[in-house]
Amino acid sequence: MNTRFEPSGRLRGEVTPPADKSISHRAALFGAMSDMPVTIKNYLDAEDTQSTLGALRALGAGVDESRPGETVVRGVGLHAALETTTGHLDVGNSGTLLRLLPGWLAGQMGSIWTLDGDESIRRRPIDRVAVPLKAMGARIEAREDRFTPMSVYGSELRGIQYTLPVATAQVKSCVLIAGMLASGHTSVTEPSQSRDHTERMLQRARVPFSRDGLTVQVSQVDELEIDEITVPADPSSAAFHAAAAAIVPGSHIVINDVGLNWTRTAFFRILSRMGAVVVGDLEDKPDGVPDVEPYGDLDVTQAPLEGTVVTAEEVPLAIDELPLVALLGCFAEGDTVVTGAAELRVKETDRLAGLIDGLNGLGANIEGTEDGFVVHGTGGLRGGVMHANTDHRMAMLGAVAGLGSKEGVEVVGMEAAAVSYPSFEDHLAGLVGGS
Ligand code: S3P
Repeated sequence: MNTRFEPSGRLRGEVTPPADKSISHRAALFGAMSDMPVTIKNYLDAEDTQSTLGALRALGAGVDESRPGETVVRGVGLHAALETTTGHLDVGNSGTLLRLLPGWLAGQMGSIWTLDGDESIRRRPIDRVAVPLKAMGARIEAREDRFTPMSVYGSELRGIQYTLPVATAQVKSCVLIAGMLASGHTSVTEPSQSRDHTERMLQRARVPFSRDGLTVQVSQVDELEIDEITVPADPSSAAFHAAAAAIVPGSHIVINDVGLNWTRTAFFRILSRMGAVVVGDLEDKPDGVPDVEPYGDLDVTQAPLEGTVVTAEEVPLAIDELPLVALLGCFAEGDTVVTGAAELRVKETDRLAGLIDGLNGLGANIEGTEDGFVVHGTGGLRGGVMHANTDHRMAMLGAVAGLGSKEGVEVVGMEAAAVSYPSFEDHLAGLVGGS
């Protein structure tokens, strides 16, 4: 589907983005691992998170979506009482489901589950979860040892001390989930901090858990204690509206009920550093691990932008928003430099190549570096054609670029947005026509 996004007048009004994708995946998984039903308020209704519900149903969990705004998951317990112990699980396009679910399956003695997904999933590495799970005692078989289809043979697990080669919340979460089933203690050390939703949920579920700097530790547990989870709006989805408001002159928008967790809001800190006016109660870096996900409203007002430097430590905290940082850089004065972002190469697409080629095709001046990029700000963008290549965030990037461009942008493959944000175009149109 080709969709044109014309240069727009100022953006005004309020928008509530859809529910957080990362928290929704975890809420459903923790629900399935619980003995008691878990009510999830505001579960994300999008393709990725429907894949999670589908996989959990296949594993025997009950999922009731009959009440609007509430999804009830009737779990099978942490040590799952599964009626069926072998089969295929379709993760669709979801890298998070692909990485988190094996952590639980690895500890289900005697079960064999094979995970697979779409074309994009088949290109995404899973050796990053297979390596620690094997060290814990699981048996994993995968195509070329690193791609799906991937079979997880449930085994008796033992705790390990694992140091992640790169900061990734998906792998950290996988090992922590397996750690709940493993004998003794399991710790994970990251090179720099990534999003901490799993840690907050473990805290909430009263699992023995601690953080010491960049190391988190979980201990074996019999069951989870969790009954209700409310999912805030997704800051990564909100970021598209915030970026649009930052590049279209005269814009001022309010984004409602958005997650303000420190590990997810680096994009808003970068945006304000670049000169946009961002007002809201962004969480400060917490000392320990809170058991809540803070949320609230964010106000974004357009102002002249200047280039900035995004360091390797900041990258995991803004990983999904880096294409938008590149877009802001095009509209800024001076250079915007991002380093330590090689992980972008293994997202739904190679987003490093995608953002450089995609935005340069619209008139940007972006140079690729070994592990990032440099944007030479030109104060605007000409426009043209942007190929989403089935990547939801690249589709939405093209749309936002179109609003700020001189000649408009045609996005090829706009339907990809449904992976995380099915109502994106309507919400954006509401702000364009807002007063
Ligand atoms: C996610 C973590 C991030 C992010 C992805 C969702 C998660 O990946 O890109 O969209 O829910 O844990 P990393 O594993 O690189 O942190």
